[in-house]
Amino acid sequence: MKKQKSFIFKCSACGHEEAKWLGRCPNCGEWNTLIETPAAGQSGGGSFAGGRGRSDGGPQYFPLSSVDPQTGIRISSGIPELDRVLGGGIMKRSAILVGGEPGIGKSTLLLQAAGASETKGRILYISGEESAGQVRMRADRLGLKGDRIEICCTGRLEDIELILEAVKPVIVIADSVQTLHTDEAGFIPGTVNQMKFCSYELISWVKEHDAALFLVAHVTKEGVISGPKTLEHMVDTVLYFEQTDGDSRFLRAAKNRFGSVDEIGIFMMGEQGLTMVEDPSLLFLVAREGDLPPGVATAATLEGTRTLLVEIQALTVPAKGAMSRVFSDRIDSARVSRVAAILEKHLNLRLSDQDIYVNVAGGIRITEVGLELALAGALYSARTGIPLPPRTAIAGELSLAGEVRPIKRLSGRIKTARSLGFEGFLAPWTDPPESSGEVIAVKDIKSAVKSLFTGNAP
Ligand code: TYD
Ligand code: MG
Repeated sequence: MKKQKSFIFKCSACGHEEAKWLGRCPNCGEWNTLIETPAAGQSGGGSFAGGRGRSDGGPQYFPLSSVDPQTGIRISSGIPELDRVLGGGIMKRSAILVGGEPGIGKSTLLLQAAGASETKGRILYISGEESAGQVRMRADRLGLKGDRIEICCTGRLEDIELILEAVKPVIVIADSVQTLHTDEAGFIPGTVNQMKFCSYELISWVKEHDAALFLVAHVTKEGVISGPKTLEHMVDTVLYFEQTDGDSRFLRAAKNRFGSVDEIGIFMMGEQGLTMVEDPSLLFLVAREGDLPPGVATAATLEGTRTLLVEIQALTVPAKGAMSRVFSDRIDSARVSRVAAILEKHLNLRLSDQDIYVNVAGGIRITEVGLELALAGALYSARTGIPLPPRTAIAGELSLAGEVRPIKRLSGRIKTARSLGFEGFLAPWTDPPESSGEVIAVKDIKSAVKSLFTGNAP
């Protein structure tokens, strides 16, 4: 039996302590946050129930089964696309690095999350770049209520630590890591040392105080390695904000201890800040009347659990140099070369003397294997000058032997394509066959090309 006296009740939102359990924390007003915790000086800490080992404060260990699982301690950011990428919300005691080029919308996103997050605890916005007035102006423009947001405009760690103790926030946003500095890590602000030291201190604070931390990091194309990359191993989650050709922005997880890294968040930047894209399936298609030009194919690809229909564009021209080259930054160029080699080998389509250009409409970067068959279609069409049939979506993986391999979530892709007005669908052959009406199922690249291009010659 546990002795009642050796335990206290600590609020997981603000750290407030009570001798007896209460439904609502009298300090921060959060409901159901008081958790039974060993009193100071007792063995164990945090949310562990009962410890073993030395009672003199030495190293502790516990039966894993006795540890409270940290479930249900996510806070919704109030922004579904951000929650999705985080794996279902902001995990308490976690540190999240948000990287991206200057001006892409990192501060906007986090200010919006600060305003919308579903917690009654306080939020501390540390702005090392903008003045309080500027942040207020932006918050007003975004229509945010700032009641729960505390702001401080400093990058000095010693000051920030004092403020943290005073505010006891549930969410801390440090904008940006590049402005953090401390007297303890040398004289020059902005060095990697300063950034790492300060980030480490902030991470330790949120872990101890049951809060969550967002670290904003500017990433420039040149500074990827020396800068914020060095923080990746220290944090739980790494999100990168990417810009496409238009106003849309993608948020991707490069690392996530608490969720998958497959999901992307899609936003549009506009007058009202970042808004969600309700139906992104059509974002990467080009509206066209009538026949397609040669070299254009529509792939039904997956991003996480969502189907996106994307237009792949290919162009081949006789090689300008002694060696032919592949120019493709949205689809990995090694993959383009491999698909080109498969076409050359299995269909006798000469591509090795051609420079190959590949692009994806809307500028999204795609890594999913299911795009390979559509890529093959686009390359074949570009090289032969024969257009693909209109309103036809394609999905399938290619093996080096020229087989069309099955892919994940085929019926979901077919359903989305159909709902967007695609009448035809070219897919891998499956057993049992995909039941939906207009699906053409193929086993290899030869029959795929035959069914796509027969009867479609100019
Ligand atoms: P910002 O969040 O400051 O970028 P970062 O913190 O990543 O450097 O946003 C940058 C751009 O977004 C800026 O050029 C202005 C634009 N913007 C809008 O178009 N609409 C808005 O509502 C807001 C707040 C910003
Ligand atoms: Mg900013």
